[in-house]
Amino acid sequence: MLIDTHCHLSCEYYDNIDEVIRENRESGVSKIIISGCDKKGIEEAILYSKKYDDVFVTIGYHPEEVDRVSDEDIWELKSLIENNKKIVGIGEIGLDYYYEKDKRNEQISLFEKQLQLAEELGMPVVIHSREAVKDTIDTLKKYKVKGVIHCFSGSLETAEIYIKMGYKLGIGGVVTFKNSKLGEVLEKVGLDNLVLETDSPYLAPVPFRGKQNSSKYLKYIAKEVANRCCVDVDLVIEKTGQNAIDTFDLK
Ligand code: NI
Repeated sequence: MLIDTHCHLSCEYYDNIDEVIRENRESGVSKIIISGCDKKGIEEAILYSKKYDDVFVTIGYHPEEVDRVSDEDIWELKSLIENNKKIVGIGEIGLDYYYEKDKRNEQISLFEKQLQLAEELGMPVVIHSREAVKDTIDTLKKYKVKGVIHCFSGSLETAEIYIKMGYKLGIGGVVTFKNSKLGEVLEKVGLDNLVLETDSPYLAPVPFRGKQNSSKYLKYIAKEVANRCCVDVDLVIEKTGQNAIDTFDLK
């Protein structure tokens, strides 16, 4: 089952989201998980999850939101999650030292509050980590949570640490980029620990690199993973789909 485990369907990026969802379906994508990671994104994601059976959502505050999130906002996440079965995880949450390095402590604090919530509710998490591998791993180790390392593009060593901790690697368009070393990591890691994602509207795979991304391009990512792992694309779709269903308990 072809499942896009991470996309941002917001009217900030798309003129007609209903049309995008229809196109995704027609291209063979069975389910999508929208990541709502700021206040507006969370509202929109929930709206579409109520409208469509095959749309699920994760909600949580991205590290770039660090100055705009209060403790009350975190409590509100809790009540949203408890009242909506289509919310299947908390994310994307994490650390970003590329854009917000000077806010390191504030970011860790926001990250920990949301990890605590995930632990309490028994929810999987979707992790954003940019130039912050060590702090991400050290922080995750404090909590009994599992989930997905979104847009993974690190080394084999890092991949193995995350996998040992019970995380799946979210593989997106980067795997199709010529200069990416991700393919070599996938050859070693194998399909058991992967889920597919687009992170649309960002990071469109080759041959659409630089254009607006959408879940309808997910099959290009599946094909490249199949090439790298030397297996049939149908096996990639089956395995990564099952991994997504198991990780997020999709019904
Ligand atoms: Ni994202």
